[in-house]
Amino acid sequence: MSYESTPLQFWEIDEYIKLRFDTFAASDGSLSAAFWPGGYNQSIHMFLRRGPEKDFSDPNDHVQLIRDIKTKAVIGAAQWEVNPMPPMNAQQEQPSSLPDVSLNVEGGNMLALNTFRTMQADCHQRIMEKQPHVYLGIMVVKPGYQGRGVGSFAMKWGVDLADRLGLPIYVEATLPGRRLYERWGFEVQETMPFDARVFGAPSKAEHYCMVRPARKADESAI
Ligand SMILES: CC(C)(COP(=O)(O)OP(=O)(O)OC[C@H]1O[C@@H](n2cnc3c(N)ncnc32)[C@H](O)[C@@H]1OP(=O)(O)O)[C@@H](O)C(=O)NCCC(=O)NCCS
Repeated sequence: MSYESTPLQFWEIDEYIKLRFDTFAASDGSLSAAFWPGGYNQSIHMFLRRGPEKDFSDPNDHVQLIRDIKTKAVIGAAQWEVNPMPPMNAQQEQPSSLPDVSLNVEGGNMLALNTFRTMQADCHQRIMEKQPHVYLGIMVVKPGYQGRGVGSFAMKWGVDLADRLGLPIYVEATLPGRRLYERWGFEVQETMPFDARVFGAPSKAEHYCMVRPARKADESAI
């Protein structure tokens, strides 16, 4: 099977949000059970739309959709943010992939989301501190297409971007994400202290703060 990667268009945001939601909801050990215990609804959808809508015209924010070349079906997505400024402190930082959590969203556990987001910003700030870097905010492959190299195909776009810019890449990874990223030269710096069981999820949903050191384009082959 062959794939293609195209930049997200504004009218594709709904499909992108649903793909993200469904993929995480179907993944063992994801945060979905803690954040969205009642499953998908329209309020959650509108809430999750805010991030990509806000970032749509930001030239440093790149969402790439992955398609099956033959059917043109969207089977994956990745969001990369070129972050030339050091992350701010946890109170100030608003990672673009994670929208404002001061809202109340029907069916959402905003305390869980807010707690995770605070820990996420703490790790991001501490690990990357003053280094310009690329932030990998989202990586999803539709469940029926996983394990066929779609994730690796999506990685290549962002790794090439980082290598062209000579920047490291930072990500907070799930366990399946960690396996993929390790193959692309990322190393775990810390395990996030978040425990999703505190918020009623069946597993801890461990997340790993990982960095791929800066390389030049000609060193990027894996
Ligand atoms: C993490 C994720 C994006 C990986 O995507 P993927 O398309 O399955 O990734 P790949 O197919 O490139 O690699 C996955 C595995 O398939 C294997 N694989 C790759 N190409 C293959 C092929 N053509 N045939 C068979 N196996 C293949 C890889 O070796 C890899 O094996 P591993 O499990 O030992 O690491 C996907 O599992 C996912 O969306 N998970 C849920 C959401 C999530 O956790 N996202 C990460 C957030 S940080």
